[in-house]
Amino acid sequence: MQEELINLRNEAIAQISSVENTIDLEEIRVAYLGRSGKFTLLVKKIKDTPSEKRKEFGITLNESKNTLERLISDKKQEMIKSISEKRDWFDLTMPGSKLDLGHLHPLTKVLKEVKQIFNFLGYQIADGPEIESDYFNFEALNIPKDHPSRDTQMTFYVDTKGTDLKPSETILRTQTSAMQGRVMEKMKPPFRVLAPGRNFRYEQVDASHGFEFWQVEGFVVDKNIHLTDLFGTINYVLRELFGKEIKTRFATTNFPFVEPGVDTYMQCTICKGKGCSFCKNTGWSEIMPAGMIHPNVLKNAGIDAAKWNGFAFAIGLSRIVNLRYQIKDLRTLTTPDMRILSQF
Ligand code: DAH
Repeated sequence: MQEELINLRNEAIAQISSVENTIDLEEIRVAYLGRSGKFTLLVKKIKDTPSEKRKEFGITLNESKNTLERLISDKKQEMIKSISEKRDWFDLTMPGSKLDLGHLHPLTKVLKEVKQIFNFLGYQIADGPEIESDYFNFEALNIPKDHPSRDTQMTFYVDTKGTDLKPSETILRTQTSAMQGRVMEKMKPPFRVLAPGRNFRYEQVDASHGFEFWQVEGFVVDKNIHLTDLFGTINYVLRELFGKEIKTRFATTNFPFVEPGVDTYMQCTICKGKGCSFCKNTGWSEIMPAGMIHPNVLKNAGIDAAKWNGFAFAIGLSRIVNLRYQIKDLRTLTTPDMRILSQF
């Protein structure tokens, strides 16, 4: 018995001294000192030992266990030390791990640029509510309740139960043109104003339509303003945004709050005028409806239309961003997916 014990101890010592990693070392510990380890099982054998040898066997067994425990613990410390010494070197050429940094959303970036361009032209920025009254969104803009042009602006009505707001009079604004009346009622002409903001319409969502979209409304009220002032402003702004070589085209159109009304087209920057799905194969992209302010709009705000006149326009901000970054699908801009947004 005694001999078997000593052999077992020597065997364990040999294994501990030649072990190479902490995982194997732990295996050795379990094999000898663990719950059903070889030494633990020998403890159970003490009672089978002849009584005259029992004491000696017990002492040797205890000493052996203590020795092994100490050897294992020393070996472990030694291994940990040598690992941390190896880690002391520092490789300056090793690539670091990349930190994800946030950045401005493409819409915010372009809006900032647009604001700067207009500031340079003497425009002030006006901010207004997204929950708007029917009056400012429609009536002040020469669009009475039964006007057919309301059909083109599928409107979200706000549930006003439990509030002081009038039910069918409170809506999500469908156009930033709503800011015209708000500003005109408060400011004395002459003025140049830029009103960027979100609008909402009940639209079937697809690649070129969203139920929520950004516009940058602009309007000027002064004396002797001509259509050519409007064209000059639009051309200047688009060249600042897209470069001197861009081509624009104007066509007549109708909006109740302008007379005449014009649509601005810019040669599609995605296909360079060749025709693609974004420009519906026309080579041109419609980006900015505009016109000369209708006298009724000025009158509604208490401005003397015989003395003052002006122009107004609305930049489709998402469209500008899409053309700028060559994004074909409008929905890309409203996705919360960082893999997409971090490309801009
Ligand atoms: N508010 C119009 C819309 O969203 C766009 C518009 C057309 C704005 C002509 C203007 C303008 O300022 O002059 O459909």
